Amino acid sequence: AKLSVDASARRPIPSTLFGIFFEEINHAGAGGLWAELVSNRGFEAGGPNTPSNIDPWLVIGDASSVVLSTDRSSPFDRNKVALRMDVLCDVKSCPSGGVGVYNPGFWGMNIEEGKKYKLVLYVRSLDSVDVTVSLTGSNGARTLATTNIKGSASDVSDWTKVEALLEAKDTDHGARLELRTSKKGVIWFDQVSLMPEDTYKGHGFRSELVEMLKEIKPRFIRFPGGCFVEGEWLRNAFRWKESVGPWEERPGHFGDVWMYWTDDGLGHYEFFQLAEDLDTVPIWVFNNGISHQDQVDTSSVLPFVQEALDGIEFARGDASSKWGSLRASMGHPEPFKLKYVAVGNEDCGKRNYRGNYLKFYEAIKRVYPDIQIISNCDGSSRPLDHPADYYDFHVYTSASNLFSMSHQFDRTSRSGPKAFVSEYAVTGKDAGTGSLLAALGEAAFLIGVEKNSDIVEMASYAPLFVNTNDRRWNPDAIVFNASMAYGTPSYWMQRFFAESSGGSLVNSTLQTSSSSSLVASAITYQDKDQNTYLRIKVVNFASSKVNLKISVSGLGANTVGLSGSTKTELTSANVMDENSFQQPNKVAPAQSMLQNAGKDMDVLISPNSLTSF
Ligand code: AHR
Repeated sequence: AKLSVDASARRPIPSTLFGIFFEEINHAGAGGLWAELVSNRGFEAGGPNTPSNIDPWLVIGDASSVVLSTDRSSPFDRNKVALRMDVLCDVKSCPSGGVGVYNPGFWGMNIEEGKKYKLVLYVRSLDSVDVTVSLTGSNGARTLATTNIKGSASDVSDWTKVEALLEAKDTDHGARLELRTSKKGVIWFDQVSLMPEDTYKGHGFRSELVEMLKEIKPRFIRFPGGCFVEGEWLRNAFRWKESVGPWEERPGHFGDVWMYWTDDGLGHYEFFQLAEDLDTVPIWVFNNGISHQDQVDTSSVLPFVQEALDGIEFARGDASSKWGSLRASMGHPEPFKLKYVAVGNEDCGKRNYRGNYLKFYEAIKRVYPDIQIISNCDGSSRPLDHPADYYDFHVYTSASNLFSMSHQFDRTSRSGPKAFVSEYAVTGKDAGTGSLLAALGEAAFLIGVEKNSDIVEMASYAPLFVNTNDRRWNPDAIVFNASMAYGTPSYWMQRFFAESSGGSLVNSTLQTSSSSSLVASAITYQDKDQNTYLRIKVVNFASSKVNLKISVSGLGANTVGLSGSTKTELTSANVMDENSFQQPNKVAPAQSMLQNAGKDMDVLISPNSLTSF
């Protein structure tokens, strides 16, 4: 096979081409990227009425010594439920260590020796209190850190905020937070939070997961969903106004598509903060009055339109505006750089989509003419019947289908809105929980995206994260539990495209007898010192190796040439190989020396591989 690269023929690649899509699915945020360790911190998971659902909180002690219940005595208006603990025993009759309640976090808390954890809780009692707060090993036996809350009746007769910094003197990856007492009486607790002191930039994000995102250099982040935005029913959809302001005052909600409760500590503000921390462009998806099961008529959609306008004002308004001032009060007086919004998710075929969409489009363009609006309707095969700056394109399919879709956009009309491939992945039996085969199909597709980046301006893999304790969707890019994380081959595959956004596409022609199994592209990109490098990527989808003759012409005086004398390869002994906690790098990029690196060279391309040099 032969690859001819003419580096004199280049065209710019959009600076936004490759990004990420964060959805609250698989406990990606709650119990994942959002570092809060307490699950259901306000005892609200059953909704606003009592008795509520305190899961996963559990009682310490038996019914003769302690009774847990919920009532609506919380000091916070939007989340009235609080935990009531009736302690029936006293210092003489309580079991040793006392009775109480514990929270195991999201399938265990990762508590590490020497690290500090910020505890905040609200307590009330008509009598004096003497409560021991401890971090313990999973069976409650080993104490990792402890503090004591003592107060006379007058101190705590009204709701009292308690704050403490707990330093762990031991490590346990499946720890829990316990509140115990041996004092007879009634105590109420509400809004119990435990955050690692060390989060990314102090903004509440789990650092090692953010670092993994930074490695793929995302140029945009689409959030917060996905189906999560739509809801199975509108009453359970994510609504941004319920997710802003002090964390204690957020009501939380039950996401009825992915079937779990979120306290919404990771809310509208935090998503923009994450985008800023990643130095990436935020793309906000809002609910357009349509869920999976119900929808608002266009004649009644105005409250949703106002909600979207207010959400934009929250991000962009100055500190004197109504919603901009709320953002400022939360710690960000400067506006966030919001330029892209998507009207709903996967709603195009639905009865009210077009009508609702037009209401949003007109209202947003009137107030914010520069905002780029993304339609749910696919404009790649025929023109849209409504105005839009971008159309959304989602694809989940087999590896061979996605491989052939490297030509998907070759013949797409170049007039009209640009494409945003906001969700792509190989799924089904080719993918398992993240195979090499899936990554190769995806890499070929992305090479097609690169080549068609005059019409496709953005692309992101989906879903991004999975907590292994709640796999709602397979596969995913980053797999984690409370203490560990690894990238699937699809994660590593994205690293091969990290330099493309903002680079230039170089003309390349592949001549091969086995054209059906080989796909290649060439780009140039600049490093931080403005040196220009050439990068060639090749996907070999076949199970036999290929001798590739490469000839490069047209390298200008300022082009350094290949990015080094090494080649980087993503491959494995078996195309269905996956990574795991035990073998996180079984399928990961490996570097080797490139023999005879130069303008004309022969490179051996391994079977089932993605190679770059
Ligand atoms: O990525 C998982 C889901 O797939 C998204 O929520 C939805 O947009 C799509 O159907």
